[in-house]
Amino acid sequence: MDMKGKTVLITGSTDGVGRYVASELAGEGAKVLIHGRDASRATALIEEIKARGHAAPQFYQADLASLAGARRLADAVKADHKKIDVFVSNAGIGSQNNGPQRQQSADGHELRFAVNYLSGFLLAYLLLPLIKAAAPSRIVNVASLGQHPIDFDDVMITKNYSGSRAYAQSKLSQIMFTIDLADELKGSGVTVNSLHPATYMNTTMVRAGGITPMSTVEQGGAAILHLVQGDDVANRSGLFFNGMNETKANPQAYDEAARKRLRELSLRLTGLA
Ligand SMILES: NC(=O)c1ccc[n+]([C@@H]2O[C@H](COP(=O)([O-])OP(=O)(O)OC[C@H]3O[C@@H](n4cnc5c(N)ncnc54)[C@H](OP(=O)(O)O)[C@@H]3O)[C@@H](O)[C@H]2O)c1
Repeated sequence: MDMKGKTVLITGSTDGVGRYVASELAGEGAKVLIHGRDASRATALIEEIKARGHAAPQFYQADLASLAGARRLADAVKADHKKIDVFVSNAGIGSQNNGPQRQQSADGHELRFAVNYLSGFLLAYLLLPLIKAAAPSRIVNVASLGQHPIDFDDVMITKNYSGSRAYAQSKLSQIMFTIDLADELKGSGVTVNSLHPATYMNTTMVRAGGITPMSTVEQGGAAILHLVQGDDVANRSGLFFNGMNETKANPQAYDEAARKRLRELSLRLTGLA
């Protein structure tokens, strides 16, 4: 896809791999909408892109640890734009951000589920009219190979909590949502795919976990850019990629009944039902 003039919203693009992808797409002439919590990090990225001679991205500040924050973000984007060619749902926290203990969102939901999955779910639906208006258009959900099946009796993980389990549950939820949404969007000209960008890229969330990085944001970014603009995936939807390669996710992703339960729960929790 030629990115010139295309409008691309990337959540969590003030840091890490999202920042890299935003910078690359701005370099290709896309109208990039960046998002994060921290205005100074956004300003630094904007200045960097401008200094390279490219159009300044537009910054949207929102905390996705609250559904109201996600709604405000969608409203702000809708106020400024009529269409979105690509929505990259990338914002996330790792298994150790602010410690591995159980934390809750502003809405009382388990925090990793809320930030990594539920806010992206809500944003995708709120922005869908703009994404459909740009068809052929794409949604890319940045998930992970770290996946843990959802225990529907304890989705908020009140028992046997670990940051890694919560992170992995949120990432599988994104993949299940991807498959479900692809089905719903059949024939609309909007595709939706998810991916594991790369393993232990050198980013804030990896360093917060005390993990020695194994790959770069350039490697993970290339995998995201492949789903954003690759011609080979133009008409492919509902898939999960490990880097550049299509692969299978945790078996629960292919359990239709589990996906339906997750969808119904998500619609209820986000107030979309
Ligand atoms: N790093 C890896 O090896 C790896 C592997 C597999 C998958 N992933 C996935 O890749 C994506 C990006 O991760 P990364 O490694 O680039 O992480 P990162 O460097 O820690 O960046 C995370 C981004 O998400 C934003 N964010 C975090 N919490 C937020 C909140 N409550 N509200 C709004 N924005 C929030 C951050 O914004 P601020 O600037 O405001 O903090 C930042 O822009 C995530 O979905 C992650 O799960 C990463």
